[in-house]
Amino acid sequence: MKIFDKTFNCIGKSELKKIAKELSVKIKEGDIIELIGELGTGKTYFVKCICEYYKIKNVSSPSFNIFNQYNGKLNVFHFDFYRIKSKNELFNIGFYENLSDNDAVKFIEWPNLIPDAIPIVNYRIYFDYCKEHKLKRNIIIVCFK
Ligand SMILES: Nc1ncnc2c1ncn2[C@@H]1O[C@H](COP(=O)(O)OP(=O)(O)OP(=O)(O)O)[C@@H](O)[C@H]1O
Ligand SMILES: [Mg+2]
Repeated sequence: MKIFDKTFNCIGKSELKKIAKELSVKIKEGDIIELIGELGTGKTYFVKCICEYYKIKNVSSPSFNIFNQYNGKLNVFHFDFYRIKSKNELFNIGFYENLSDNDAVKFIEWPNLIPDAIPIVNYRIYFDYCKEHKLKRNIIIVCFK
């Protein structure tokens, strides 16, 4: 069930950090968070900002290694489906064991590339370039609980 959605238009990095801070206190262990948007729209950066509030500093993009794991105030699993070809591949790399771990927050970049791969989602965040200011972004946060 959709609980809320919030839209932020043409925001820069400092505003994004404030949004990440607000969301970081709402997020609970076990939550599954999809990050949807074109290349370079700020999906990884958003995870990095949220992780700062969990005292995690070394966040990097999982584009190449598909899965990164961090331990801080909350445990974080960070996936990127950009290089994944099929749902079968997700089974083979143990994605579903990680997805069902209720002791970690799970962020997933590019979930839209493998339709129906994720059965339950708690937040879906959309990222896009702001048309008026190419260096800023539009973000929509949708919460399902
Ligand atoms: N709100 C923002 N305003 C301005 N720049 C931003 C904003 N959010 C992120 N950026 C910058 O955008 C660039 C790309 O960000 P990032 O790597 O997070 O994109 P991505 O969506 O994860 O890309 P990919 O699909 O390749 O994984 C970075 O330099 C980052 O600092
Ligand atoms: Mg990324």
